[in-house]
Amino acid sequence: MEKSSTSNSDAETLRNDWDVYWAGHQHDRAERSIYDVGAQFYRRYLIEPLLTSVLAREFAAGSKLLHAGCGGGEVDKRVVADFRVTALDISPNALELYKARNPGVEAVIANIFDLSEFREKFDGLYNLGVMEHFSPAEIVEILKQFNSVLKPGGKIVLLWPPVYGLSVIALHVIHFVLNRIMRRNIQLHPLEPTKVSSRRQVEGYLAAAGFRLRSMQFGPRDAFTYVVIAAEKA
Ligand SMILES: C[S@@+](CC[C@H](N)C(=O)[O-])C[C@H]1O[C@@H](n2cnc3c(N)ncnc32)[C@H](O)[C@@H]1O
Repeated sequence: MEKSSTSNSDAETLRNDWDVYWAGHQHDRAERSIYDVGAQFYRRYLIEPLLTSVLAREFAAGSKLLHAGCGGGEVDKRVVADFRVTALDISPNALELYKARNPGVEAVIANIFDLSEFREKFDGLYNLGVMEHFSPAEIVEILKQFNSVLKPGGKIVLLWPPVYGLSVIALHVIHFVLNRIMRRNIQLHPLEPTKVSSRRQVEGYLAAAGFRLRSMQFGPRDAFTYVVIAAEKA
């Protein structure tokens, strides 16, 4: 397996940044709370049903799945009932939230740049809201790691926001109002340097990591938030 090029200090910075994000997730600043209530509603009524139905389409019930970058696990309630899920995140605070919401699910602290301990253990892997936080070169490294944890014939499902997704536009508007008009200095969400811009872009990342694109969908079911990508180990 190809080793990741991420150094220990990069991993530490990543962990600290995300841990601070998750620790601050519950604090009571008004802007944050309003944003969280909206985001929670959105995830529960739009994102969770979409994720659940795509995973049911791609994997047999009882398949062993890795949620790589599981965060607080808000959308996993139904998924963990249908599949054998291992939840993985770099942030201990995220995993604490995940375990409180999804008791009994195996939860591990690990870095998606180094998944060597999980080689060929899973039928599938999924995540949402993760890939856009990395550069194109990092995305290919991460996808190679994803490939290595899959059994032959394994698949991945990635929910990845497009450049012109509704939530992306909404966040731009909210940040504009908070920071330019109200003159606060607030970043509600970690930066997202690589959103989906074309099928060709996605096929390029996947091919470089040994995957073949199965399908790519974008539509009203989640109010045009995520591109749903399904790919298989080539
Ligand atoms: C925006 S959150 C998405 C959470 C979750 N998938 C959801 O939407 O319900 C991105 C998650 O990726 C995790 N993450 C970021 N970099 C990571 C890394 N290198 N290894 C593992 N997890 C990572 C963060 O801690 C965070 O929980």
